[in-house]
Amino acid sequence: MAYTITINGTRHEVDVDSNTPLLWVLRDVLGMTGTKFGCGMALCGACTVHLDGAAVRSCITTIDSVGDSQVMTIEAIGATSAGAKIQKAWLAHEVAQCGYCQSGQIMSASALLAGNPHPADTDIDDAMSGNICRCGTYSRIREAIKLAAQS
Ligand code: FES
Ligand code: FES
Repeated sequence: MAYTITINGTRHEVDVDSNTPLLWVLRDVLGMTGTKFGCGMALCGACTVHLDGAAVRSCITTIDSVGDSQVMTIEAIGATSAGAKIQKAWLAHEVAQCGYCQSGQIMSASALLAGNPHPADTDIDDAMSGNICRCGTYSRIREAIKLAAQS
């Protein structure tokens, strides 16, 4: 089935089954591999993208459900105010270790900061609790979000 979706401000036409996860469209159809596959079951957050500014798990978001919503991925998040602050703070705190989870972490953190410029610790915990990091970078993530909130 043919779909037209808007990703990072650009319209893309894709022809896939209606229940195809957005993650597969991004990675396999469009070659946008910044968004990662971890669990495929909404359990790890590696596949997080924004749908109209909200952080969603693209592994369980079907292409059919995207509709006219604006999709944003890690490839473009640095062009947003919150995303640029988050990326700068990530570098300052050298957050990434292996890096695999980090695009999802940055997408969740950017959505948090865009909606709540001065998040409390509990806000950070709530926003980031679904993003798993097997390298255990959680404390640096929290500090980086706080730094981004001050900038
Ligand atoms: S791959 Fe989507 S939450 Fe794990
Ligand atoms: S940096 Fe390795 S899984 Fe998070």
